[in-house]
Amino acid sequence: MEPEMQRASRIHPAATTRGRELIRHIVVHHHAYLRRTLPSLQSDLEGIGSDSQALEARRLFLDLSDELALHLEKEERILFPAVEQMERELENGTAPLPPGCGLEGPIAQMSFEHQNALAALGRLLQIVAGRPAAVGAPLGPRFTELADDLREHIRLEEEELFPLARRLAGIELG
Ligand SMILES: [Fe+2]
Ligand SMILES: [Fe+2]
Repeated sequence: MEPEMQRASRIHPAATTRGRELIRHIVVHHHAYLRRTLPSLQSDLEGIGSDSQALEARRLFLDLSDELALHLEKEERILFPAVEQMERELENGTAPLPPGCGLEGPIAQMSFEHQNALAALGRLLQIVAGRPAAVGAPLGPRFTELADDLREHIRLEEEELFPLARRLAGIELG
């Protein structure tokens, strides 16, 4: 038997590298996109006026940026390493974490923060769309791109990564 096949035959059938691939994709594409884009959008918002809606947009954006920065840190420091560790343990044939292993709390918190971010961004899109064309038109596509990227980022986490994390946490080696 080829060494690769011998190694593969020892891996628990439920083990997967899908979580690590997903995490890498999310961090390299979506987290990097946010870290790159949010600061430049913040300076763009300086030019949208000084009336109450413009002030609301700037305040919303500052809060959203701060919350997203913390959110990315929590995922990269707590949740993602936990998923990676569970996958490695399954591959190694060890499962020291009890089923569930306390992931529900972090996943619920991340999902709550996703909903808050989408709501804040929805309101921002509304304000930008309502600005005079001279200031609103150049910003519209940039905020639409941010919203599209964030929706896909959140979809990957909520519909693919979090369900995978729950499955990994519930797996008992036979
Ligand atoms: Fe994320
Ligand atoms: Fe997230």
